[in-house]
Amino acid sequence: MSDALVLYVTRDGHSRALALDLGLLLGAEVREIGDLVNRRGLFGWIKSGRQAAMRRATPIRDPGADLKAARTLVLVQPVWASAVCPPVRSWIRAHAKELAGKRVAVLASDFGAPSSVIRAKFESEFRSEIGSLAACEAIPQKEGDSLRRKRLEDFAAVLKRG
Ligand SMILES: Cc1cc2nc3c(=O)[nH]c(=O)nc-3n(C[C@H](O)[C@H](O)[C@H](O)COP(=O)(O)O)c2cc1C
Repeated sequence: MSDALVLYVTRDGHSRALALDLGLLLGAEVREIGDLVNRRGLFGWIKSGRQAAMRRATPIRDPGADLKAARTLVLVQPVWASAVCPPVRSWIRAHAKELAGKRVAVLASDFGAPSSVIRAKFESEFRSEIGSLAACEAIPQKEGDSLRRKRLEDFAAVLKRG
């Protein structure tokens, strides 16, 4: 088992698929940050976008992962309103002290938002908790299989090199 830990949030399953594939590439444990907000339907979609845009931290079921053993932490999330996903924000706030000295990376599933935007959102909001991200990638949910695989492998390679 590697010293990486993969945590994910998902509404529609794409981030879970990315997290599980990345976990296999890294040989890492994969756990879900449970999202306790009902996000179904159009109302749930609008609510999610608004919560993300307003930088809300929303209720989660903490996966209770062992952070002490992890040197590298990968947060996998859907992009909502080009922003940090609210359940991820809740998890980071809850574990801020345990993140000191760890390498943190972000992998996002989206419709095509550039990874530079996601990186900037994380690094500006969580500078004191996570500093600069070790890696940040955003993979569109409709990316073709071979390109999706290549982007995941490249992302995993960056983390393995570190
Ligand atoms: C409320 C909401 C807002 C979204 N905003 C964006 C966005 O700003 N940019 C983007 O590229 N994709 C956006 N998306 C698309 C999701 O990021 C995309 O469908 C992603 O693959 C969903 O991941 P999931 O299946 O893990 O929930 C949004 C989706 C939702 C539900």
